[in-house]
Amino acid sequence: MRTRLVRSKLLSSVAEAVGQTPLVRLERAAREAPSVEVYAKLEFANPGGSVKDRAALRMMTRALGDGRLTPDKILIDSTSGNTGVAYSLFGAALGVRVALVMPSNVSKARKDIARAFGTEIIFSDPMEGSDGAIRKARDLVAKDPEKYFYPDQYSNPDNPLAHYFGTAAEILDQVGDRITHFVAGIGTSGTIVGTSRRLHEHTRPIRCVAVEPADPLHGLEGLKHLPSSLVPAIHDGSAYDETMRVTTEDGWDMSDRLAREEAMHVGHSAGAAVFAAIAIAKRLHAEQKGGCVVAIVPDRGDRYFAPMKWEKRYLW
Ligand SMILES: Cc1ncc(COP(=O)(O)O)c(C=O)c1O
Repeated sequence: MRTRLVRSKLLSSVAEAVGQTPLVRLERAAREAPSVEVYAKLEFANPGGSVKDRAALRMMTRALGDGRLTPDKILIDSTSGNTGVAYSLFGAALGVRVALVMPSNVSKARKDIARAFGTEIIFSDPMEGSDGAIRKARDLVAKDPEKYFYPDQYSNPDNPLAHYFGTAAEILDQVGDRITHFVAGIGTSGTIVGTSRRLHEHTRPIRCVAVEPADPLHGLEGLKHLPSSLVPAIHDGSAYDETMRVTTEDGWDMSDRLAREEAMHVGHSAGAAVFAAIAIAKRLHAEQKGGCVVAIVPDRGDRYFAPMKWEKRYLW
C-alpha cells in the first residue's frame, strides 16, 4: 500500500494538518454502477473532524493577516456544530480567544468539546433555538464592536474561497481529467459554491450537483432546505449545475450502508451526498456513459452519538 507523503511530513502546528484529505473509491456501495468510478472525499480526516476546518481556518488566518482579528479581540459566533469545533481548535492553535453562543439546551458533548479547547460558552434562550443564538451573538457584537471579531460564515467570501483553493484543487490533483461529476451538500453553501467555481474553470466540463434535504423538517444535520430557509449571502446558484433533493431516510440508510460496506462511519449529510452520487452513477451506467463521481463526506458519525443513560452506569 502506498503511504501518503502528506502524512509523513513534519508539521509545526495542527493548523497545517488541514486539507489533503483522502479520496477513497466506493467499490461496494456503488457496485450497481460498475462502469462508473465513485469516490468519497473524507473530510473527517481534518484535525477538527470535519469539512468546516477549511473555512474556519481561512476565515481566521485571513482576518489575522489584514488586522480584522487582533490578539486583543475575541472571535464570536453562534454555532454549536462543526464550525464551532473548528473555531475552538484553531483558536487554541493560533492563540485567539473564542466565544460561542449556543442555546442552553444543546447537548453536553457539544459544550464539552468546545470547552476542552478553552472556548467560552455564552448561553442563549433555549426557546429561541439557533436563531436566538444568532441574534444574541449579533447583539453582543453591535454593543461592543471593538471587543469582538464576528466571522459570519454565511456571508464571508473566505468560506467558499477555502474550497476554491483547497478542496477543488486537491480533487483535480487526485483524479485529474477523469472527474465528470462533483456532489456536495448545502449548509452555508461554501463547499459547493467554492469547489464548483474552480471545477468549472477546468478545461473539461464537470457537472456540479448540490444536495438539499427533500423536506423543510429533516434529520440531515449540517444541511439546509433552501426554499424554506434564509439563503446565505455567499450562496450563488449559478456556480453549480443542478440540485438533488434527498430524504432523511435515504441519507440515514446510506450512512448505515457506508459503515457496513465501506468501513466509513459517517454523518447523515455524508449519507445524503453519497446517496445522490450513487444515483448519478447508476444513471450513467444505465446510459453506458461511464464517468467519475466525487462526493464530499463532511464528517464522522460518532459526532452524532449522545451518551445514553444505560451507558452512564458503566462509565461512572
Ligand atoms: C455535517 C455537515 N455537512 C455539510 C455541511 C455543509 O457545508 P457548507 O457549509 O460548506 O455548505 C456542514 C456545514 O456546516 C456540516 O456541518
